[in-house]
Amino acid sequence: MATTCVLGAQWGDEGKARVVDLLADTADVVVRYQGGSNAGHTVVFEGETYRLHLVPSGILRRHVTCVVAHGVVVDCATLLGEVEELRTRGVTVGDNLVISDRAHVVMPWHRRLDLLREEQAGARAHGTTGRGIGPCYADKVSYRGIRVGDLYDPDWFAERLRMNIEEKNRILVDAYGEEPLQFAAIRDEYRDYAERIAPFVGDAVTLLHDAIDDGREILFEGAQGVLLDVDLGSYPYVTGSNSCALGVPSGTGIPPRALDRVIGVAKAYMTRVGAGPFPTEDEGEDGRRLRDEGNEYGTTTGRPRRCGWFDAVGMRYSVRSNGIDEIVIVKLDVLRGFERLKVCVAYDTPQGRIDTVPATASALSRAVPVYEERPGFEEDVTGARRPEDLPAAARDFLAYLEQQCGAPISQVSVGPSREQIVRLRGDT
Ligand code: GDP
Ligand code: IMO
Ligand code: MG
Repeated sequence: MATTCVLGAQWGDEGKARVVDLLADTADVVVRYQGGSNAGHTVVFEGETYRLHLVPSGILRRHVTCVVAHGVVVDCATLLGEVEELRTRGVTVGDNLVISDRAHVVMPWHRRLDLLREEQAGARAHGTTGRGIGPCYADKVSYRGIRVGDLYDPDWFAERLRMNIEEKNRILVDAYGEEPLQFAAIRDEYRDYAERIAPFVGDAVTLLHDAIDDGREILFEGAQGVLLDVDLGSYPYVTGSNSCALGVPSGTGIPPRALDRVIGVAKAYMTRVGAGPFPTEDEGEDGRRLRDEGNEYGTTTGRPRRCGWFDAVGMRYSVRSNGIDEIVIVKLDVLRGFERLKVCVAYDTPQGRIDTVPATASALSRAVPVYEERPGFEEDVTGARRPEDLPAAARDFLAYLEQQCGAPISQVSVGPSREQIVRLRGDT
């Protein structure tokens, strides 16, 4: 298929990068379309682990052109640090990386405001990654933003910077009692970034239009997950962008009908980082075990992830709202040794039993999961490569998930490494 979106169908960290890396074998272009350095994407192959935040996961395949499209908010220091690290490890980063000149830039006040808000909120903190994501997207839609292309017009950039500093200093100094932002220091810092990222900056919209016209295979790499989407997620406990498939056309400039296929990535259980409702969270022994076995600690912040059972209600919602054509289940190996595997199939609420996701975070936090149980499996599945290598109970569990989710499961990941994959059907 020519264009495929790989998105997270849960609360992020589903293993999107692992799937993108796999599919990138035959892709020409890999595109990040939203989010920023809040993303932590892990790829493991030949015993090496790569952690990426802004650079698309396709960078590990030499033949792939990687695009950071305009829907992404770009933190120049993180980007440059990542490029440097990749190069140190022998990965080629040059004209195979294109940063959109329309992308918004994360400025120093975005991080500071993000952290200050979190600090002020105390126990009610949102649990953001502290990367300035929300404030940067807020400036974008309130016409205050500074875009990558603006960095190359010194007078225009200075004007935008001055306007922002005036406004942000009123907030930082007057409301928070912080040190003011200094114009000259920031101007010089960003002048330096502009110079250093210049080799990568280009017109990503035209690049993608041409790639589509030429019939190239394009992968869109989602960040975060559908349940963290600013519109579809558990608002306000969400991220600042459309992490759903809708984010692809708006974040890249390709026409909506140019997207041929949507792959939803989901763990065989569920995790969440930060605050917000999580109906199937297990704060007892099962949750602890999932965290230990699954090594559930954030790639970006190192925070322990909250863990719980697979939520088919949330998954159906993701399937329907994104037109997910196929599901890739990851981390099946982590479920080894549980006597029973729980799947949430509905929620009990004060208004009765429902099988859809309620609109408000408060309603979702009151939803009590209704579980179905399937038999667990004892066998180590990390060496499985064909469906018949999987124990019958694991196959039964997958068939049950498929039936509950409303979309076929095309592949199952049984370990973090490139080759630890079982194709169940199709040519993915
Ligand atoms: P992403 O943000 O969706 O790309 O996912 P992350 O990289 O944040 O988190 C997924 C984690 O699970 C990474 O540490 C991966 O190396 C790891 N992982 C991916 N697939 C599997 C799998 O099938 N089994 C196990 N045990 N780990 C996996
Ligand atoms: P990947 O791409 C998991 C969560 C944060 C917080 C909320 C808002 O690796 O799946 P933000 O910093 O975006 O303003 O934080 O969203 N969050 C993620 N959780 N995976 C991610 O990215 C996330 N990016 C943001 O923990 O709850
Ligand atoms: Mg992650």
